[in-house]
Amino acid sequence: MIKPHGSETLNPLFVYDSDQHDTLKHVAEELPSLLVSSATAANAVMMGGAYFNPLTGYMNKADALSVAEKMRTTSGLFFPVPVLNLTHDISSLKGHHKLALRDPNMEGHPVLAIQEVQAIEKLTREELHFIAEKVYRTLDESHPGVKAFLSQGQYVVSGPIQVLSFSYFQEDFPDTFRTAVDIRNEIMERGWNRVVAFQTRNPMHRAHEELCKMAMEGVDADGVVIHMLLGKLKPGDIPAPVRDAAIRKMVEIYFPPNSAMITGYGFDMLYAGPREAVLHAVFRQNMGATHFIIGRDHAGVGDYYGAFDAQTIFDEEVPDDALEIRIFRADHTAFSKKLNRVVMMRDAPDHTKEDFVLLSGTKVREMLGQGIAPPGEFSRPEVAKILMDYYQAQP
Ligand code: ADX
Repeated sequence: MIKPHGSETLNPLFVYDSDQHDTLKHVAEELPSLLVSSATAANAVMMGGAYFNPLTGYMNKADALSVAEKMRTTSGLFFPVPVLNLTHDISSLKGHHKLALRDPNMEGHPVLAIQEVQAIEKLTREELHFIAEKVYRTLDESHPGVKAFLSQGQYVVSGPIQVLSFSYFQEDFPDTFRTAVDIRNEIMERGWNRVVAFQTRNPMHRAHEELCKMAMEGVDADGVVIHMLLGKLKPGDIPAPVRDAAIRKMVEIYFPPNSAMITGYGFDMLYAGPREAVLHAVFRQNMGATHFIIGRDHAGVGDYYGAFDAQTIFDEEVPDDALEIRIFRADHTAFSKKLNRVVMMRDAPDHTKEDFVLLSGTKVREMLGQGIAPPGEFSRPEVAKILMDYYQAQP
């Protein structure tokens, strides 16, 4: 099986031993608390499930700056984005070696993790901007990722963590939330060797469905792991339970039996385009996928990135030996009226724009809101029904 990133075996930071878990929960109640940001909490959930293997905790300032600049920590580990515990106020933290990190996304703010504090350092405004500019390629605060990053505070609390909870994800998505450990185990149990991973934050339309099928065929895969983001999105994006239902319906009807695993992970979308695509590849390798689909405007938002920047970063900035997982590069995919099927545009060089069924996201939302199903060439009717029900229930 493909090796995890940076180590021989996966190292989840979640405390699985139930006695140790109980003990640490009691210990945590006595520790000084830090109510963390949603992004910091999401980082803990990802490290808990070994998606960010081989990290053992939150990065310090030197590593954050080094990773932002060249995707390597100061010790040379390849990692695409800083993984930080950033906070505004450190007055209650001084002199404490251990902290209970509390979950901002759950009622009563239960303990999420215990952190050993190795350092508390301040990032200057220039350093924060340097990181944002490198990771997001913009400083524009109307970029949702930049806005979220710059609002988390200037203090970097670094050090190893022991994770005690997967936040709300396990309870809210019992059938879908999976750790990298779970997925690796399931891939092994199924006896799959070549495994394609598909990232998504959307309900899957025909183009998404066909991309998975084309990739499976292209790399001769045993199966696809559909891996949806279950964490926070920007306003206007479709909530995870609705996407989950739509994807399940589509797989049930339109995928051959046992060819697709439907899974999800608890992380807030960064909208960091190319850098996020590399992060996506890291954590798909950790969960045991051998190939990862990257198509058009992967993890993008607005017009901040070129349509295929998330692919070219792998040619220009990711050394060949940095990762074992391979990228399946997809061109813009749409239904061809001439060929009567979904194709990648590069495979239909004689086509003009008019030969494809192309609908903008805004147009599709508008139609669904009015209870009009997009054409069958764009969305499966069963998927459209779930989305129309959702949009029509909105005030
Ligand atoms: S993402 O933010 O999670 O990347 P989305 O769920 O829309 O957004 O896309 C999932 C994956 O499908 C990404 O790799 C994206 O590039 C790809 N993709 C989505 N739509 C198309 C399309 N029409 N043509 C090519 N690739 C696409």
